[in-house]
Formats: sequence, structure tokens, C-alpha cells
Amino acid sequence: MVILGIETSCDDTSIGIVDVQRGRFVVRENCTASQVLIHRKYGGVVPEVAAREHALTILPTITTAMKRAKVTWKDIDRIAVTAGPGLHTALLVGVEAARTLSWLHNIPVVAVNHIEGHVISALANRSARDISFPAVALVVSGGHTELIAVPKLGSYQLIGKTIDDAVGEAFDKTAKVLGLPYPGGPEISRQAAGGDSTRFAFPRALPQKNSLSFSYSGLKTSVLYAWQEEKRRTPRLVQDICASFQEAALDPIISKTRQAMMEQRATTLLLGGGVAANARLRQRLEEMIQTLPGTKLLRPEPSLCTDNGAMIAIAGALAKKMTPWKDLEANPSWELV
Ligand code: KG4
Ligand code: ZN
Repeated sequence: MVILGIETSCDDTSIGIVDVQRGRFVVRENCTASQVLIHRKYGGVVPEVAAREHALTILPTITTAMKRAKVTWKDIDRIAVTAGPGLHTALLVGVEAARTLSWLHNIPVVAVNHIEGHVISALANRSARDISFPAVALVVSGGHTELIAVPKLGSYQLIGKTIDDAVGEAFDKTAKVLGLPYPGGPEISRQAAGGDSTRFAFPRALPQKNSLSFSYSGLKTSVLYAWQEEKRRTPRLVQDICASFQEAALDPIISKTRQAMMEQRATTLLLGGGVAANARLRQRLEEMIQTLPGTKLLRPEPSLCTDNGAMIAIAGALAKKMTPWKDLEANPSWELV
């Protein structure tokens, strides 16, 4: 079965083509038109600009992805599209494209939840059999910081989330304070690699043992104060703040994910979301999982952590029920759990 996945929930127009071969989700192509350079001059994503760019790039991106994967419309068995959550005007472009293509080529279509896409993104080039249940999913992105219990495939319970900013948002806002370009996550992790993470003792939020909630607004403010107090703005200072910030942002993620794994008696940790591309987070989760015997970490390769069409195609492959194209709608506040 070949699935075409369409993702336009934020600032990436991304098309994935996934071939399910004996249960394995083989990614034949993942083609992304990034809008980063366009939004950089505004310091963040401007929804109307994002929607216009999606409208301009969606058909060329689909054509390119199909050409590279060497498939024609006759080969596509299913179209999967992100219907929410996300920016309404941006989602509409993907949803309208999916409706039209479904009708035109007579191909079944399915609405996919963007967060479910991140949850199962680690299945790229793997099979669902690689997950041993119960599992816990950690979704860390620009809009979400969530721990989700996954007792079986397609069944999700929210067990922890942020009470204010998402962790990716904290990376982006901190980068802005330090004068680093948007998006802040990759830039902060680059700067942090050369910095001293012990120079600034930034606060670790909500350390209570029984809480799986996250909070990032206090950390963001502490960075702002530290930056304002330091009069000598050297490259070394930026590196040390980034390294200290990164450890403070990641500490609660490591400890709460470990706690969630133990509470759920989980045997698999599924990682997803843009911040999952962070090398230090990947390394620390790998170390943490080794302290829990009988558990394993499934993580997507860095290019499939940030928004992508391949994860939407995989979620669409797992879906049991199709969406009649006439009923397909964008739902910007669609909660997975
Ligand atoms: O999943 P994603 O592409 O979009 C949302 O669904 O939000 O995540 C984007 C977020 C941004 O906040 C970006 O700064 C962050 O992921 N990010 C990173 C890294 N790469 C992307 N954060 C930390 N380290 C990275 N290497
Ligand atoms: Zn996302």
C-alpha cells in the first residue's frame, strides 16, 4: 500500500510517500519546502504569509515528491492529510488539496491528527511490531510538550503537559532574547555545544516528584534577567547561556519521562517533535533509558522530528476509518487526547 501524506499545519509544506511492505513503513520520499527564511525576518511564523506560501508550493512539492519516489497517481492507494491542530489558514491549504486530489483521482482520503503523526514518527522505516506495549510517547515541539500513555496502537491518554510555554517555544523565545535567528532550537543547540552549562544556575520547573506537568515561562524570564545583567556581551557569554538554558530545559523532560515510564510500566519510549532533533536530548534520553532495564527508545532520524509528510502518511496507514472527502475539514484545535 502506498500512502501520500500532506503536512501544512505550520511553516513547512511537506509531502511524504510511504510504502507499507510486510508491515514496514518504508519512506520512499519526504520532500519539504521550508519557509524558515521567509519567517525569519519577522522573528516567528506569520499565519497569513505561511498560508500563501503553502498555496504556492503545495502542488510543485507533491509533483517533486512523486517524481523522486517514481510513482504516479495510479500507484497511490491513500491520501493522508493533517487536519489539525495547527494554524487554521495553513491547514486549509493541505486539506483543500487533499479533498480535490481525492475527488479528482478517486483515491480514499483520511484526516490525521498532527500530534499522532509525531507520536508514531519513529515508525519510519520500522514496523508497528517494533513497539512493545505499553508504551509512553514524548512529544516535544514548538506547540506541544506532552507525555502520552500508549497502551496499544491508536489508543492515547494524556498524562503530562506544559502549563504555559512549550519547550520548543522556550528555545525560540530564548534565542530571540539573545539575538539569535529564528527558529531558535537548532541555533541554541549549536551555541550550547561550545558552552559551559554550569555557569548559570537557571531554575528547573515543577520538580515535585508526583507531577508530570512542565513549565517554561520562568526559565525564559531567568534567561532574560541574566542577559540584561551581563554587561560584557561576548560570544562566550551567549554560548554559556545557551548551554545552561539547554540543560535547565532538558532536566525536567528527562526526569518526568523516566517517572512516566515507571508509572505506566512502559517498555517502549516513542520520541517525536522538532525538539527531538536536539542532539543533547537524544543523548540524555538514550542514557536514561539504559537505567530502566527491559525498555527501549524508538526515535525518528533528526530530519523526521520536525514537521514532515512521512509521519502523516504513516499515521494515515494505521488509520482504520477513512474520511469521506466531502466531510474533510481543517480543525485547528483538534485535541488528540
Ligand atoms: O515539530 P515542529 O517542526 O513544529 C511544531 O509542531 O511545533 O517543531 C518545531 C520546534 C521549534 O520550536 C524549533 O526551535 C524546535 O522544534 N527545534 C529544536 C531543534 N530543532 C528544531 N529545538 C531544540 N534543538 C533542536 N536541534
Ligand atoms: Zn509538529
